[in-house]
Amino acid sequence: MRHFIRLLALLFAAIGFSSGPATAKAQLPPRPDAPAVATAGDAAPSVSPAPNVLEPGAQPSLLAEPPPTPSPSPAKPRKHSYNSCQVEGKHVAITFDDGPHPTLTPRLLDILRERGVRATFYLVGKNVAAYPEIVQRMVAEGHEIGNHSYNHPSFLKLSPAGLAQEVKSTNEALAAAVPQKPTTIRPPYGATNASITKRLSEEFGLTVVMWSVDPQDWKYRNASRVSSHIIQNTVPGSIILAHDIHPSTVDAMPPALDALLAKGFQFATVSELIAMDSPKVAEKTHSGPGVPISAPPPAMEPLEAYAPEPAAATPAPQAAP
Ligand code: NI
Repeated sequence: MRHFIRLLALLFAAIGFSSGPATAKAQLPPRPDAPAVATAGDAAPSVSPAPNVLEPGAQPSLLAEPPPTPSPSPAKPRKHSYNSCQVEGKHVAITFDDGPHPTLTPRLLDILRERGVRATFYLVGKNVAAYPEIVQRMVAEGHEIGNHSYNHPSFLKLSPAGLAQEVKSTNEALAAAVPQKPTTIRPPYGATNASITKRLSEEFGLTVVMWSVDPQDWKYRNASRVSSHIIQNTVPGSIILAHDIHPSTVDAMPPALDALLAKGFQFATVSELIAMDSPKVAEKTHSGPGVPISAPPPAMEPLEAYAPEPAAATPAPQAAP
């Protein structure tokens, strides 16, 4: 009798496993390790995963998936400034200074959207006040906005009160345009020093973001030279500097972005890249102590570098200095 029951059990088992993949799957017993109650880890995915707010009519399928939310250690010290970041994986950030420009910036935004690339724009406050709708489009399409002063002066030549005025008036122009507040600042011409950088970070809550890849697009108005420099010098953790006020720079972007994407680079906003920054990566990727882990300080842009192209159709509100 016992043998008969075992035979019956085997028979049922055989029927179960031979009745096709779909039903076989359905008959599988519950995994013994499946928890009956959701754990804290299981609850996490219910948090809204999409930081990018899309306007109606935007094309979400063309935008890149936002990278997984980095989880920096809460003990991670906040740095006052970054030239580049130490990250796991081929993450980089591309930044565009001095806009928005009434015609070139929308053209650049089209190029970025076609490729699902998100960038960070260091905006000049007076241009924000003139073209708030372009800033709104940037935010709607998932880009980050940062402070680049109101009138583009060298911070080294300002009084403490003058510096505060430049920073605050730009934040106010941004606040009038979009709900997002900037968390980073790029001093015009890269002109800063330790005490200014510390003040920007501590008093205004703005992390100073410099760069590690500089095609000098303000100087070389040649799209292929600019794109080649970017393609050849970008490495994981790079912060790329460009200016969306020169037609040649915008022309350089399709080949530069396509080549970097083909190499497997993923574009993060500056804040996302900073959130991924980890000294542990530097320990892993560098052979030992004494090896510099960050790029050398970037060369300062000369003061005459800020010369936006005049708008063809719309007159620029204030001529460049
Ligand atoms: Ni600038």
